[in-house]
Amino acid sequence: MKSTNEKHHDSVDTSVFGSDEMLRVSPKNEIPKNPMPQDIAYQIVHDEAMLDGNARLNMATFVTTWMDEGARQIMIESMDKNMIDKSEYPQTAEIERKCVNIMAKLWNSPEKPYCTGASTVGSSEACMLGGLAALFRWKAKRRAEGKSTDKPNFIISSAYQVVWEKFAHYWELEMREVPISFDKPCMQADDVVKLCDENTFLVVPIQGVTHTGMNDDVEGINNALDELNMKTKWDIPIHVDAATGGFILPFLQPERKWDFRLKWVLSISTSGHKFGLVYPGLGWVIWKDKKYLPDNMVFNVNYLGSEVGTTAINFSRPGNYVLAQYYQFIRLGFKGYKEIQSNVMETKNYLSGQIKHLGFTLLNEETPNPLFCWYMKDDKKRKWTLYDLSDVMRQDGWQIPAYSLPKNMEDVVVMRIVVRQGTGIDLADRLIDDMKRHIQELDNRKEPSDTWLIMNKSQKVKDRGFSHNR
Ligand SMILES: Cc1ncc(COP(=O)(O)O)c(C=O)c1O
Repeated sequence: MKSTNEKHHDSVDTSVFGSDEMLRVSPKNEIPKNPMPQDIAYQIVHDEAMLDGNARLNMATFVTTWMDEGARQIMIESMDKNMIDKSEYPQTAEIERKCVNIMAKLWNSPEKPYCTGASTVGSSEACMLGGLAALFRWKAKRRAEGKSTDKPNFIISSAYQVVWEKFAHYWELEMREVPISFDKPCMQADDVVKLCDENTFLVVPIQGVTHTGMNDDVEGINNALDELNMKTKWDIPIHVDAATGGFILPFLQPERKWDFRLKWVLSISTSGHKFGLVYPGLGWVIWKDKKYLPDNMVFNVNYLGSEVGTTAINFSRPGNYVLAQYYQFIRLGFKGYKEIQSNVMETKNYLSGQIKHLGFTLLNEETPNPLFCWYMKDDKKRKWTLYDLSDVMRQDGWQIPAYSLPKNMEDVVVMRIVVRQGTGIDLADRLIDDMKRHIQELDNRKEPSDTWLIMNKSQKVKDRGFSHNR
């Protein structure tokens, strides 16, 4: 029996916040026994998520945090479409094909009339697919030559994103790293060639290195591999991880050769959800030609009504992200993308100038992507670290990661800002004002901070709070 004074929400008089549910702890570990009204369930989930950081103030993420109303509308009305059901949703499949063609042409694919590629959940899946295709091609070639396929390796900068570590781990591959340094912040041809041998199935230059915002020298690496491949007949190809740069270079540096114009670039991946300007959940992988996508990576799915080839690791996936990408392509056009990417670069240049004025040192004076890092030179008077600054900036809602650089430079602690659409000069000024105030407070503290004490006892401080791999 319900007590007489219990407030039943199904009575029209009881508001959400007047209901009994508001006095209960929301379910943590077990599914509740009974249903609850829709508006109360909504409020509980909404309010808990409200405590997350504000996505627009998240200067750590590369991922899109703003789309216009038209895009949101398309996403909402098509979020029930499963990308894999290509025979049920043939137009969504067709739009995916249009996007593949558009992407491939942005990267100067020579393939006609249709280009070869696929949408994915993000760059991670796209990198895996590009890497796997190269591995299978290498294995097929080695088998045809009667040679062993036991010890495949690939070459990448030590500033790789964690997906490449996963790739090596899942498929038991050797990952050969070219260490970055102050002198060589990007992977260069001479260091790559030194690491190549007959078991090298792939070289992976990055356009938009996650940790630094720099671009590896794809053209130089391509030319060096061309020479090496001619001499050895190893045919070592390139997959470009252009998670960030794939949507920056075509608009801002169209003359720079990093893409399918280069002989040994056989596949490229990017994140539609980064500078492709779509909310998180979308990546792309494109091959230079159908012949570089091994047949054993195209699976014919026939239980959904007809035989359709798919190339993906995941099966079911929302189709609305692909529709949103197409919306962005036709809404913005080349000009619109160029304007947005130019604005984020200008804001990035403005912000990095302001950060320098605050007394910090930029890791790289110029970055070709809309992100930059800075560090602090030793100063005997200062008793705090960038980890502290990162912590205190959170008090104002700003999420700015501090982390140590990869192997070979692990003693250097940097802070990083990624500028995305939605961060203009005005917001940048607010950030700098807040930072100035917090720096003053840190300078005025009487006691050294915990992280300063740890670092000055030369113990490593673990990266805290943020993942720098986003
Ligand atoms: C260079 C690079 N590769 C791959 C990835 C993984 O991308 P995603 O988050 O789209 O899976 C990232 C993410 O930041 C990246 O910067």
